[in-house]
Parts: sequence; C-alpha cells; structure tokens
Amino acid sequence: MPRKRIVCVYGTRPEAVKMAPIIQRLRKENWVELRTLFTGQHRELASEVMADFGIDADTSLNVMAPDQTLTGLTAKLLQALEPQLQHEKPDMMIAQGDTTTVMTVALACFYQKIPFAHIEAGLRTGDMQNPFPEEFNRVVCGRLASLHFAPTRSAAEALLKEQVPKEQIMIVGNTVIDALFGLPETALEAPWQTREDRRLILMTVHRRENFGEPLARILSAVRDIVDTHDNVEVLLPVHPNPNVERTVRDMLGSRERIHLCSPLPYRQFTAALRQAYLVITDSGGVQEEAPALGKPVVVTREQTERPEAVEAGVAVLAGTQYKRIYDVLNMLLTDQKAYRRMALGGSPYGDGKAAERIVDALRHYFDISARRETEDFVEL
Ligand code: UD1
Ligand code: UDP
Repeated sequence: MPRKRIVCVYGTRPEAVKMAPIIQRLRKENWVELRTLFTGQHRELASEVMADFGIDADTSLNVMAPDQTLTGLTAKLLQALEPQLQHEKPDMMIAQGDTTTVMTVALACFYQKIPFAHIEAGLRTGDMQNPFPEEFNRVVCGRLASLHFAPTRSAAEALLKEQVPKEQIMIVGNTVIDALFGLPETALEAPWQTREDRRLILMTVHRRENFGEPLARILSAVRDIVDTHDNVEVLLPVHPNPNVERTVRDMLGSRERIHLCSPLPYRQFTAALRQAYLVITDSGGVQEEAPALGKPVVVTREQTERPEAVEAGVAVLAGTQYKRIYDVLNMLLTDQKAYRRMALGGSPYGDGKAAERIVDALRHYFDISARRETEDFVEL
C-alpha cells in the first residue's frame, strides 16, 4: 500500500510545543510519508521550541513581518499556503490550536479539498471578542476539519453542539502534557536562581484583547504586589510583540525584584515553571502546564476556554481589573491554606498520551489497522 503523505503545519510557539509530540510519533510510523511545514508566523519563537525537540521543518514560509496586522498576516499566509498544498498534495494536513496559521490552513485545505485534522479542537468561550481573534479561528476550524481531536470532554461537547458529527470527534487529551513531560529532566535548564528567602512568581502576558488599558492594569497590580511583599520576585519573559514589549518595559523595567528577560527556550521556561511558587498568565498553554506541575495559576483574562482548571480549584480567573488581581495575588502570598488548596496539582488537560491516541486515530482513519488501544479513548 502506498504511504500516506501527512503534512504537520505549525507557525507559532504554542503550535510548535503542541505539534512536536505528534511529529515525533509520526516519524516512527512506516505507513506515513511525513512532511513538516513551518509558516514562520513566529520567526524566532517557534524554531527555538522545535530545536529543543530535535525537529527541523522540511519547508519554511517565512511570512512574519514586524508588528504584523491580522489582515496582512492572513493574506500572506493564504497566498503562501496555496502553492505548497498544490505541490505537496497531502492525504491529510494537521494543524493545532487557534492562531491565524491554523485558521488559514483550514481554509486553504477547504479550497483544495484536502482533509484537515484539527488538534485541540472544540475550545470555546462563546464570545468572538474574547480571545480575539482566536475564538473566530476556532469556529472556522470546527466547520472545516474532517477530524477533531478534542483535549477534554467539554471541548468535545462544544463541537457536538455545533453539529459536528460524533464520529469525527475524539477526546484524546492535550499534547501539551506530552511535551511537558517529554523532555528529559537532564535537558531542563533553570534560567534563574531565586534567593532562598524569596518566592518566584513566573509571569507571561501577550493577549491582543488585553493591549492598552487592561494590560496596564495587570502590570500595575503585579508591580504593587512586588512593592508590598519584599519576599517576592517576578520573572517575566517578555513576548516580542511590540505592543507587549513597549508597555512591559515602560511599566516594569526599573524594578529591582522584577526580572524582564527575552522569551525563554522551552527547556528553560518549563524549568522555571517547576521552580515557581505561583504563575500569572494570560497564555493558553501555560494555563494547561502549570496545574500539571502543581503550580497555582492566576489567569489575567476576562474569559477562559479552559474552565477545567478553574473548576478543579487550581486556577483562578482573576480578570483584568487591578483590585481583583491584586487581591488574588495577595491572598495566595499570605494565606497558606488557600495556597495549599490551589497547589494540589492534577492534570485536567491530559495524561501525556494524546499524541499516541492521535496517531492511532489516524491509522484507523486511513484503514491501516484497527485502533491499537480503543479502550484508551474516552467515549463521547
Ligand atoms: C500569536 C497568535 C496568538 C498566540 C500567540 C502565541 C494570532 C493572531 N495570534 O500572537 O493566538 O496565542 O501567537 O505566542 O495568530 N514577533 C517576533 N518574533 C517572533 C514572534 C513574534 O518578533 O518569533 C513579533 C513580531 O513583531 C510580530 C508580532 O510579534 O509581528 C506579533 O506576532 P503575531 O503572531 O501576529 O501575534 P502574537 O501576539 O505573537
Ligand atoms: N513558553 C516558552 N517560553 C517562554 C514562554 C512560554 O517556551 O518564554 C511556552 C510555554 O511553556 C507554553 C507555550 O510557550 O508551552 C505557550 O505559548 P504562548 O503563551 O506564547 O501562547 P498561547 O498558549 O497563549 O497560545
């Protein structure tokens, strides 16, 4: 039987993290002719991650421009993808998440009638403005994909509500957990040593809908927490989006116990996560990783499409108002009982076997064999 040509696409840092375990698995399958396509939406950040996982893209499209607009990026991606798809003629394209890369891949596949498998399918807030533009991107993928790999039951149920046929949906967990525990301990590299009498807060910010006032309020709350707790240090790898970088450096640049650094390689960021006392983030992936490591997460967003950690009591949706963020952080730093309740750990987003299930499902889709461990799939 001729091998099936499968193209794994990624464009940004989180897609690289979450696609790496799938690429590593597919490499071992002799029925697959695997191709990897990097759109270059994040020129530096995604390549850094893939280097940690020993992955080098077969093709790179190099679409990134400084301070790119959504329109410019979307147009460039669509134009660049068309000849690639015509050239590769894949039996299946696979993309992950909710970025502009993923949405344009889904659309480009639709135009050329190429089956598209969506990883991390079914996340929804129900609000097109939050997160922006990701909620729209997810809905587009939900309409266009042939296979929907949902990380959780609630994600699968969201797809069913949108009339996605049940047989196209599989609950597999999130490959971010495969990635998190996939790097050997010896590869991890602590980027920062905190003084023994201090607690490390690891922070990230980058959401588009928070640019401007909400971002300023989040940063003010963190700055004031550091000023009122002298046993606290913040490590903040600054996202290279100029809208983030400018504001963060202006507002937090000159504080002694706030350490701003360049984006960290994955092996260092996940080492810092393991060292952290708590995590402040508006990132999707970090909301999934921190609970798996038993780190309380303060989510600085108005809505989250990842309610499982909040429901399990290991994350707090703190919003973007100054007072609430300050109060939540203050509570976690002063109330040991409250802290311990949130530091319980648990992994609502997966067990580290998502990539294995995805490859099993692909094998089944192409009639290569029956699923190896059907009982390992959560039934809808
Ligand atoms: C993008 C995704 C967002 C995802 C985030 C992960 C879209 C619209 N947004 O947001 O969903 O959560 O990535 O980090 O798909 N830049 C660099 N070097 C890099 C990467 C970015 O310089 O390696 C700078 C460039 O100036 C670029 C800007 O950041 O124009 C914005 O990048 P873009 O991918 O459009 O948006 P993000 O905010 O990174
Ligand atoms: N990450 C990293 N270095 C950093 C910050 C984050 O490697 O300096 C990783 C993090 O572990 C997670 C992913 O990047 O796996 C999340 O990406 P990001 O927050 O940019 O995007 P989102 O998940 O919000 O789409």
